[in-house]
Amino acid sequence: DWTMGAYREEAIAKIRAQVGDAKVICGLSGGVDSSVAAVLIHEAIGDQLTCVFVDHGLLRQNEAQEVVSMFRDHYNIPLIHADESELFLGALEGVSDPEVKRKTIGKLFIDVFQKHAAEVGGAEFLAQGTLYPDVIESVSFSGGPSVTIKSHHNVGGLPEKMGLKLVEPLRELFKDEVRALGHELGLPASFIGRHPFPGPGLAIRCPGEITREKLEILRKADAVYIDQIRKHGLYDEIWQAFVAILPVRTVGVMGDGRTYDYACALRAVTSVDGMTADYYPFTHEFLGETATRIINEVKGINRVTYDITSKPPGTIEWE
Ligand code: XMP
Repeated sequence: DWTMGAYREEAIAKIRAQVGDAKVICGLSGGVDSSVAAVLIHEAIGDQLTCVFVDHGLLRQNEAQEVVSMFRDHYNIPLIHADESELFLGALEGVSDPEVKRKTIGKLFIDVFQKHAAEVGGAEFLAQGTLYPDVIESVSFSGGPSVTIKSHHNVGGLPEKMGLKLVEPLRELFKDEVRALGHELGLPASFIGRHPFPGPGLAIRCPGEITREKLEILRKADAVYIDQIRKHGLYDEIWQAFVAILPVRTVGVMGDGRTYDYACALRAVTSVDGMTADYYPFTHEFLGETATRIINEVKGINRVTYDITSKPPGTIEWE
């Protein structure tokens, strides 16, 4: 009789056997996988684990504080909170090409992670929340030509570069099992059920050049949109939902004045694995109410559109 409780005990025993009394560092992204891995490993080896959370300045509203308070205050897990937003936003100034944006972020991320991980001193292991589908996907299939649509932000190659061995306690699990394990470990349901969030963060939801102003507007609009989705009880039906701020200003009228502000696009899709996706069929009432709220509550946006592209031919993110 196989239960998550038994899996948890077995995984803890394996981690202890693998790590002994060595130090482990774990990169936290704020996502479910790395969080569950960190909490599980902390249960196994306590403060031999230190987590490193790199804040690239491209997170959503309150996201950094939520992650930090959950790990430090709630779980008492030693955590390095590296606020490197100035560095990342500086490097992204004037960059508008999607691939250059991704590569800039990916490269800086590795440098910064390495720098802060070195502060731990003498770590022998790097923990990662790799899942079973990640393991199979990295096996290459021969056949058709390989086309890179977007370069993915990940920390592949990092363990070798840093001379660290890997601890990957979720390697045998699928996403739903990771969520069940997270539940077993006492992570809050609202956290476990969070939509996936891409490594490059809001950068790929801000097509064209990123500015602090646009990021601030995007964060506020996104918070209103997600609040609407939760209020209507739709959050768990949707694979991912977010706002993209468009690189264009349009004319509007508000009160007795003319406005000239950014347009934004709402995105919401259903999917099982992110490989294909359908746009979510919101009602017109929901869309109308959400557009009104965003325009009233978010200074800097005066036009709201809904993206009804499925994947393929669209991708889920805008860049
Ligand atoms: P696309 O936009 O390619 O996204 O349809 C498919 C899924 O992948 C996520 N995504 C990323 N996740 N690093 C990540 O960890 C990335 O660089 C990245 N780019 C896209 C996206 O949010 C969606 O769930």
